[in-house]
Amino acid sequence: MPKSKSTKSAVPWKLPLILAFANQKGGAGKSTGAVHAADWFTHQGRSTILVDADGQQSSSSWVKDLGLVYKVISDPELLFDELPLLASEYDVVVVDGPGNASEVTKAILIRSNLVLIPCRDSMIDLASTGKIVQFVRQAKEIRGGAPIAAIYLNAVKDNTILLREAREALQSCFIPLLNTTLPERQCIKDAPGQGSTVFRMNGVASKAAASAYTKIFTEALKLFESES
Ligand SMILES: Nc1ncnc2c1ncn2[C@@H]1O[C@H](COP(=O)(O)OP(=O)(O)OP(=O)(O)O)[C@@H](O)[C@H]1O
Ligand SMILES: [Mg+2]
Repeated sequence: MPKSKSTKSAVPWKLPLILAFANQKGGAGKSTGAVHAADWFTHQGRSTILVDADGQQSSSSWVKDLGLVYKVISDPELLFDELPLLASEYDVVVVDGPGNASEVTKAILIRSNLVLIPCRDSMIDLASTGKIVQFVRQAKEIRGGAPIAAIYLNAVKDNTILLREAREALQSCFIPLLNTTLPERQCIKDAPGQGSTVFRMNGVASKAAASAYTKIFTEALKLFESES
C-alpha cells in the first residue's frame, strides 16, 4: 500500500475511536480483522495504534512486519487504565481481543466505543447465545448503551444462503449483522506469513478482499455514526 500520500476518508466518524475485535471463539478472525483495520486506518491518514490484548501475541509480530504502531497489553486492569490514555494520543486505537479470556474481554468492552464481532458460518448458531453477546449486553447496561457493536460473517463461501440463514439465526439478537461479508480467501490466510495485508498485496483476489474489508469498515463506521 502506498504510504506517501494519505487520504482521509469521506466518512466523518467521531474521534478518538477505540475499535475492538472481540469474540470468545478462537479462530473467528479477530487478529486478521484487527491488523487489517490498523493498516486501513493508517492508510486513511489517521494516527493508529494496535493493542494486542491476546496473551499469544499473534498480531504483534505481524504489525511489526508492517511497520505499524503497536503495544502488547494483555492484563485486564492495564487495559482498563491504558486504553483511554492511548485514545488521547491516537485517532484510532484498534484492539485485538483474546480468544478465551473473559476478564480481558470485559475490560475491552468497558473501554471500547465500537466492537466488531467476526463470526464464521460454523459459529452462527452460537452467535446469538455466545458469551460475547452476553458480555456486550452487560457492558451496554453498565454504560447506558455503549459500546456500539456489530457482527460480521467471516470466511464466507456462499454469500446468499449464508446471509439469509445468519439473519434468521440472529433475528432475536440485539447486535446487528453487517450486510457486508468477508469471503474466504487464500490471500487473507497468506497475509501474516508475507508480513503484508491484502491492502498491500497484488492480484485480483487481494483487490477483491481489500475491497470487502473496506466495505466492512465503512459500514461499521456508518453504524457508529448513526448510533452514537
Ligand atoms: N476471510 C478469511 N479467509 C481465509 N482465511 C481466514 C479468513 N479470516 C481468517 N482466516 C484465517 O483463519 C485463522 C484464524 O484467524 P485469526 O487468527 O484472525 O482468528 P482469531 O479470532 O484472532 O483467533 P484466536 O482467538 O486464536 O486469536 C488464521 O489462519 C487466518 O489466516
Ligand atoms: Mg487472534
